[in-house]
Amino acid sequence: MKAIVHRKYGTPEVLEIQEVEKPTPKNDEVLVQVHASSVNIAQWYGMTGLFIARIGNGLFKPQDPRLGADFAGVVEQVGKEVRDFRPGDRVFGGRHGALAEYVTVSNGIAPMPGNATFEQAAAVPTAGITALQGLRDYGKIQPGQNVVINGASGGVGSFAVQIAKAFGAQVTAVCSTRNVECARALGADDVFDYTKEDFTRSGKKYDLLFDVNGRGSWSDYKRVLKPNARVVIAGGPRTPLIGPLSHVIRLKLGSLGSKQQATFFVANFTREDMLCLRDLVESGKVKPFVERVYPFHQTAEAMRYLGEGHAQGKIVVKVREQEKTLSASARANRGK
Ligand SMILES: NC(=O)c1ccc[n+]([C@@H]2O[C@H](COP(=O)([O-])OP(=O)(O)OC[C@H]3O[C@@H](n4cnc5c(N)ncnc54)[C@H](OP(=O)(O)O)[C@@H]3O)[C@@H](O)[C@H]2O)c1
Repeated sequence: MKAIVHRKYGTPEVLEIQEVEKPTPKNDEVLVQVHASSVNIAQWYGMTGLFIARIGNGLFKPQDPRLGADFAGVVEQVGKEVRDFRPGDRVFGGRHGALAEYVTVSNGIAPMPGNATFEQAAAVPTAGITALQGLRDYGKIQPGQNVVINGASGGVGSFAVQIAKAFGAQVTAVCSTRNVECARALGADDVFDYTKEDFTRSGKKYDLLFDVNGRGSWSDYKRVLKPNARVVIAGGPRTPLIGPLSHVIRLKLGSLGSKQQATFFVANFTREDMLCLRDLVESGKVKPFVERVYPFHQTAEAMRYLGEGHAQGKIVVKVREQEKTLSASARANRGK
């Protein structure tokens, strides 16, 4: 099968489509033919070889050259113990190596929302689960709360605004000028354009600050926190060695001794949460916001655009259509 691989760390030029062995599902796994995938900052870190990513995947070159996490596609085969899925089912989920024609997966998979295309469904897993777990599990979001989402218009932020609204919160979005209208369209009640105004000097107070990609210090954030507020950190600026962790460490240290808590978390794919996201999409409360769809052979372009740091919603890679295109071009080449 064809897969996106990187045999070295670097800029998106290191990405190649290569022929790799098609995986075989274990007893508890499902083999999925991937129709669409989407790209995330975690893959950017894996590709460029951020220091902490190298600790997990080889200091000098990637031990595991595969890339990708999000997929939407069709079940091709199931392991002996699998009862919930059958060949032909449309599914979506998260699994390392999803920028490929096939993935095998056990837990992080659910039936696709009936109203979603493969491209829309592939936009959901990482960003949706991060937004869901950040707001619900770590932020303990409640109806009627004032919630501010700092970094509201990218992958995670676009889901966070909609999920916070689905939980009945009053939502303030923080983004740049070009994304103000988009944040409103996602359902934000209030929007701050961070290029023009600083939400931490607005005088408004929040129960929950979801710091998706913020740059603020603890003293900035503290100004807008209610006495029992929570700050949940998903990410931050990409510093060279430890990426967003420098922002996390600064906020954690700043919050020492404060009544309010700052929590960093790493999202985790579960069947239950994939089902929850499926229901949110099917009910129309959450609409995956896809800014761009790239063909498989332009995955490097998709990563380059994501790497600029100002994507609107999600950037999707159409894996299956490219396969058709590749087959067509292969046939055309054979005919020459
Ligand atoms: N903890 C986890 O498990 C987890 C999982 C997934 C992602 N993350 C992290 O979450 C962060 C966002 O990921 P993503 O997929 O949403 O990235 P993304 O799609 O690239 O979106 C980044 C967003 O950040 C906004 N932004 C840039 N500079 C900003 C600033 N100074 N203040 C406020 N917002 C700013 C951009 O909005 P404008 O274009 O309007 O500037 C853009 O919408 C990343 O740091 C990523 O590593 C964490």
